[in-house]
Amino acid sequence: MEEFSLIIRPAKNVLGALRLPGDKSISHRYAMLAAIARGTTRLRNFSTGADCASTVGCIHQLGCAVRKHPDGMLEIDGCEQLAAPAQSLDCGNSGSTMRMLSGILAGQNFSCRLHGDESLSRRPMARIMTPLRLMGAEITAAAGDRPPLEIHGGKLHGIGYTTPISSAQVKSAILFAGLFATDETSVEEPHRTRDHTEQALRAFGAELSRSRNRVSVRGGQKLTAIEAVVPGDISSAAFFLCASALFPGSNLVIENLLLNPTRASLLDVLKILGARISVINLEEHHGELVGTVKVEHGKLTGVTIEGAQSVALIDELPVLAAIGPYTRDGVEIRDAKELRVKESDRIALVARNLRAMGAECEERDDGLRVPGNQKLRGAEIDSGGDHRIAMAFAVAALGAEGESVIHGAESARISFPEFFTMLESVVER
Ligand code: S3P
Repeated sequence: MEEFSLIIRPAKNVLGALRLPGDKSISHRYAMLAAIARGTTRLRNFSTGADCASTVGCIHQLGCAVRKHPDGMLEIDGCEQLAAPAQSLDCGNSGSTMRMLSGILAGQNFSCRLHGDESLSRRPMARIMTPLRLMGAEITAAAGDRPPLEIHGGKLHGIGYTTPISSAQVKSAILFAGLFATDETSVEEPHRTRDHTEQALRAFGAELSRSRNRVSVRGGQKLTAIEAVVPGDISSAAFFLCASALFPGSNLVIENLLLNPTRASLLDVLKILGARISVINLEEHHGELVGTVKVEHGKLTGVTIEGAQSVALIDELPVLAAIGPYTRDGVEIRDAKELRVKESDRIALVARNLRAMGAECEERDDGLRVPGNQKLRGAEIDSGGDHRIAMAFAVAALGAEGESVIHGAESARISFPEFFTMLESVVER
């Protein structure tokens, strides 16, 4: 993908109504489970991001027929038996694809290789390699625990595993492998992570049990295809919700938005900060809460995000830090060391870009402290090729004095190709 830069001019406010493409986390899971389910799964409002396209590409390489209809509906024919891929599976920029698919591949009767782009090739994989090896799979990585991975799948047995870090990707890889294992597999996590895998497994017909932070699945269960509309991505909505909270006179409505409580902490944080938020039309689809959210400006005070909340907000932390200077008392983020091993070192890049905009901020090993009541000036923003950094600083740029240039703006395509166009459609100047 060719790199490009975009100019963002300051905004007066944010006004309008939006419907967003399907949630990335749910799209990955539905596509992967569709691949191993009996029958044809039909998915509407599937994520338009390149990451989910990587997952779909991989399941196609594994022998599943995939059809995209002119109205955008995705049809996936499940395979009773996945096929050994002729070539290395290309996971692109997507850690979710590599880590979660590894769980399924660990239980297959063939060997395969998974690779990714430069950013993914730097990301740690020991977190999935260790438990999948304990279940009986043979997995090797090129250098230490970095991709590419070679997986020699086979007979798996259930384990009881406590993850050292709270990661939904790791939990999902283990539960997916658990479907192919003898007896039961349980995963316990220090803090509860997003539960889309549990909801999706139930939607496809599997039974799971949960007790506090431990979830268990019995091996040998068969899945059945579903028809679903993927709810709008709340991590993509985060940029609009934060932008709307910033400016007096803003009023933004987002329909069909994912509101699963394990993902919707941003709404609580924005309320604590002082934004005016209301939720209507709540419905449940395949275990996922969906609704319409309205956000209006309120005077933003300050917030400290730590512990379980940092885990729940892991993808929204860059944009929360980026609006920190516009609050009265600032935004402090703790217990978020994982941000250093995302698509980029998000702590370092947030700090660097805030400073480029003239803000003071304190970078810490596991987070940041961004003092409030600071004016930002337009600047050259380095996205580091990371979609969430590019979009977070587009939001910061709306409140700055003067124009900003977002370098590496094309990275938005990883999760949200429509972002910049949609932003212009609701920003008033
Ligand atoms: C995801 C989990 C999170 C998140 C990522 C998507 C998921 O990663 O950052 O964007 O869909 O399970 P970790 O599980 O590594 O924290």
